Amino acid sequence: MTERRDFDVAAAEWDEKPRRVKLAQEIADAISEALPLSQTWDAMDFGCGTGLVTLNLAPRLGSIVGVDSSLKMVERLNAKVVELGCANTRGVRLDLERGELPGGRYHLITSAMTMHHIPELAPLLTAFRNLLHPGGRIALADLEAEDGSFHENPVGVFHQGFSREQITQLLSQSGFSDIAISTVTEVTKGEASYPVFLATATAS
Ligand SMILES: C[S@@+](CC[C@H](N)C(=O)[O-])C[C@H]1O[C@@H](n2cnc3c(N)ncnc32)[C@H](O)[C@@H]1O
Repeated sequence: MTERRDFDVAAAEWDEKPRRVKLAQEIADAISEALPLSQTWDAMDFGCGTGLVTLNLAPRLGSIVGVDSSLKMVERLNAKVVELGCANTRGVRLDLERGELPGGRYHLITSAMTMHHIPELAPLLTAFRNLLHPGGRIALADLEAEDGSFHENPVGVFHQGFSREQITQLLSQSGFSDIAISTVTEVTKGEASYPVFLATATAS
């Protein structure tokens, strides 16, 4: 099944869940702790949504472009960019899975809670590697392997989280080295808790 989730319908209320805002803050903080972010770095945040992680990272970088296939998500990000006067940030509607490219090269590519919505990860990670400057860094945050109970709506969920072995294999096959993976936080839903990992690596 390759039916995609329609994220446009979720955009207007995306930021209203405190759990989501907290998770984005925790992921942005974990990226900042794991990597020597610099105001000389240009970054891309893949699957940026409304920019919860993008805007958290922006003050620690030279520039950041949030890319997302949902026009409504990107419009929310760009509205916040204007409200906040965040001159080094912009959102662009793009679907990298369809070969649409942002037209720049980056020192850092981040992605938070998006990889599990991508059916074929190897081509996407190879595209990321090609968008990075030599020695550029990647930072991927997503669910650790779970039993499928995280999403109430299974449409557009192609992976029930990831094992460390899967992520290591995908990254090394796609041209990344210096791979480090750690648990950085967890999401609690009712009685269940879902660990979230951060994987960082360097474009070889
Ligand atoms: C679960 S949301 C995460 C949003 C944001 N990173 C956050 O942490 O709040 C996943 C996002 O990935 C985007 N997405 C899914 N498939 C995509 C694709 N092929 N290209 C670009 N964005 C995609 C969706 O539109 C959605 O905004």
